[in-house]
Amino acid sequence: MESMKEYWNIDTDAGILLQALLFTHQPKNILEIGTSNGYSAILMAEVASQYGGHITTIEFSEKRIALAQTNIEDANLSEYITILQGDAAEVLSKLSASSPDLSSRAVTRDPDNATWIPGQARNDGMNHHAQHFDLFFIDASKKDYLDFFNLCMKIASPHALLVFDNTISHKHALAEFHEAMQHNKKIQILELDIGDGLLIAKLL
Ligand SMILES: C[S@@+](CC[C@H](N)C(=O)[O-])C[C@H]1O[C@@H](n2cnc3c(N)ncnc32)[C@H](O)[C@@H]1O
Repeated sequence: MESMKEYWNIDTDAGILLQALLFTHQPKNILEIGTSNGYSAILMAEVASQYGGHITTIEFSEKRIALAQTNIEDANLSEYITILQGDAAEVLSKLSASSPDLSSRAVTRDPDNATWIPGQARNDGMNHHAQHFDLFFIDASKKDYLDFFNLCMKIASPHALLVFDNTISHKHALAEFHEAMQHNKKIQILELDIGDGLLIAKLL
């Protein structure tokens, strides 16, 4: 599958970096915000499928979800990708409500509203509604980046990585986000001039 501008897919270099992060860190649970047609989820699943990782990806457009499902099926990666339909901030709030704290990994309760669209039914004994994530890839509405960050922090594993796309291309729109990142003592940040600019935050 090729990166397509009309679906705002990440470019090849950003894809290489994402795949390299997965190869080296092997995060088990990955959360993407902004599925579009599934391009970046598929790239990540190509690697995650090799070590037992799983991608959960959030998208609010039904049309794009349908397209992503077709592309994921065509790539034979349905088993490794779960699409959640809904507004990302709402879905993240529900995920954090169902994952109270890191010391309690027991299953709690399902979020009520988000529509869960498994790429393929999974039967691995894990509850995918109540869990923490080891790597986040955030590539959706820029005005919400700071909210996304705060919500992701609630469901992040210790030392999780958060990767934000478009942090250079949308530098001005993301001024408040950048400021908050720079002053946050719980993270270490690194910004890379790759693709549209990727900011990587590592939880300390
Ligand atoms: C830049 S595209 C994602 C591209 C994708 N990561 C890739 O590289 O293949 C952003 C997508 O996020 C979706 N989106 C934007 N804001 C959202 C939100 N607040 N909640 C859910 N989806 C959102 C858009 O509909 C769009 O499909």
